[in-house]
Amino acid sequence: MRNISLGVRTASMLAAALMLTSGASVAFASSDHDHKGHSVDYVDGYPDSPSQTWVMSFGGRLYDSWFEALGKDEPKTTNPAWPASNKAVTGGDTWRCEACHGWDFKGKDGANASGDFKTGIKGVRNVAGMAPAKIVKLIESKNHAFIKGKIPQRDMLLLAKFLSKGQYDVSKYVDLKGNVKGDPAKGKPIFQNVCAACHGYDGLAFNFDSPEDPSYVGTEANDATLETFYHISRGVPGAAMPSMGILPPQTRADLLAYIKTLPTTKK
Ligand code: HEC
Ligand code: HEC
Repeated sequence: MRNISLGVRTASMLAAALMLTSGASVAFASSDHDHKGHSVDYVDGYPDSPSQTWVMSFGGRLYDSWFEALGKDEPKTTNPAWPASNKAVTGGDTWRCEACHGWDFKGKDGANASGDFKTGIKGVRNVAGMAPAKIVKLIESKNHAFIKGKIPQRDMLLLAKFLSKGQYDVSKYVDLKGNVKGDPAKGKPIFQNVCAACHGYDGLAFNFDSPEDPSYVGTEANDATLETFYHISRGVPGAAMPSMGILPPQTRADLLAYIKTLPTTKK
């Protein structure tokens, strides 16, 4: 078993504690809810008075995988709007904003220009700075008939706010070859003090994949650098992974540079 255990309270005890302290059920405890089926308790839901950084993190997790961020089941079929030319990806992934528009928001002009997620679809960089209400209209357009009625209005607005204010030119920090413009020496204290609590000092405490084909934080940082940068920056939808959106992007890049130095396999 490679489940990490937050190990203090059960989900139901946590839920009870939250009801006592927060009155209305604005936050709820979730467990066994992340996309690889690990059993990890964590707090989900919405703060009463969201900070701008929280909005960017949650909106970013909706862009990553709205159904996981919303605690819904992963779609089993392939999205009818997924380009027929792309046979590499099927099923639940084809419903994610990120799948069509990219971890770098540039669609066919960025990371999705080639590889498994080559879709020929344009990115969402043009909507940066646009009024969120206008972005909601674009998300509700016929290009996205497949999400009709699936994302509640509150979340639609959080997603639009993220696309307006939370996206940026990622190539300043991570290029398409996976090179990171960051200083590992500056990332090391963050990793050792925050991330190691769950991932271990060597990053090997938590396997994201199967026992036969393990993948650790060092593996992901080297094999899927842009995606790792994204997950550090926004958290992981439906998982007990904190968002480092509280740090400036350059500091997140320093952290990523350090993670790239961690072992990718167990000896
Ligand atoms: C199956 C592929 C697919 C998925 C998944 C997808 N989109 Fe799109 N999206 C498109 C297409 C196609 C367009 C139209 C592109 C064009 O005009 O050339 C588009 C356009 C957009 C635009 C307008 C961009 C512009 O410059 O006008 C925004 C914003 C957008 N999508 C956001 C989202 C969000 C948010 C999600 C997730 C809820 C999402 N998309 C999921 C295919 C997709
Ligand atoms: C409270 C425990 C916890 C802490 C602290 C934590 N993580 Fe995580 N992390 C997780 C969980 C749970 C997942 C989701 C695993 C899954 O997908 O099954 C995760 C996933 C990730 C991923 C995603 C890997 C992928 O598939 O792309 C990265 C990258 C990551 N963590 C890096 C970090 C970094 C860097 C820090 C420190 C800033 C950190 N984590 C702190 C629990 C934690």
